[in-house]
Amino acid sequence: MARSSLGGDQPGAPAQPFLVADIRTARRLLRHSSFCLFSFLLMLLPAHIKIETNRLTIRLVEESDLPSLFAVNADDAVTRYLPYESWKSAADGEAWFSRAAARLAAGEAGQFVIVHRESRRVVGTCLLFRFEQSSARAEVGYVLAREYWGAGYMLEAMKAFVVFAFEQLGMRRLEAEIDPRNVSSARLLERLGFVREGLLRQRWAMKGEVADSGFYGLLHEDWQPFPP
Ligand SMILES: CC(C)(COP(=O)(O)OP(=O)(O)OC[C@H]1O[C@@H](n2cnc3c(N)ncnc32)[C@H](O)[C@@H]1OP(=O)(O)O)[C@@H](O)C(=O)NCCC(=O)NCCS
Repeated sequence: MARSSLGGDQPGAPAQPFLVADIRTARRLLRHSSFCLFSFLLMLLPAHIKIETNRLTIRLVEESDLPSLFAVNADDAVTRYLPYESWKSAADGEAWFSRAAARLAAGEAGQFVIVHRESRRVVGTCLLFRFEQSSARAEVGYVLAREYWGAGYMLEAMKAFVVFAFEQLGMRRLEAEIDPRNVSSARLLERLGFVREGLLRQRWAMKGEVADSGFYGLLHEDWQPFPP
């Protein structure tokens, strides 16, 4: 079963109650302040953000993850439906990391990596971005190394990530935008309970083609906690 933990330093260690209590207090206080819980959690407690599932650990990205992430993002099959070209050099990864760090510092986004615990390998990423504090909403994104596709890894990771976004970050609504031809991504969102809310025709012109966008949403009030 997916388990989100803020504070467990060891894989499998229980969440430390004092930290969870701190988060709850912070959430109450921050509701009435201009500073947001998202920034608070992602900027001030990065070392403590650790989400664990049966096979995976999700944590904030670090610069030392770039070689592993290069292997993931240099693959044209992986980037086929993503809004960026495959990474060609280490500089592409460094530029990506700088953007991620800047967006985190601005409280706009949190870029996480997915670690396959048994092999200790960084096998993918998941992202919360387009964060809107007043509306308590954010968009999700996710990428997995090709050799790990089709084994339920991203469903496992995203179930835990959704729990984290709703229960720890206090999100009210999560969104996703996908190319409708990306059937595995569409299926993943459906399995997570996202509802397809619309189709924006010919929204993107990139990589030499024009593509539609499927828009998906998941409301906290509609969301049923995932069964174990
Ligand atoms: C989309 C992606 C993250 C899915 O990850 P994954 O670990 O292979 O997905 P899962 O194994 O958890 O499967 C989730 C669901 O999708 C289904 N699925 C996976 N691959 C599929 C495929 N090629 N065709 C149809 N369904 C597929 C699974 O069967 C499962 O549904 P089910 O439980 O009802 O059977 C992965 O393919 C990927 O990283 N793609 C490249 C990056 C990308 O496109 N990201 C999304 C951008 S919006």
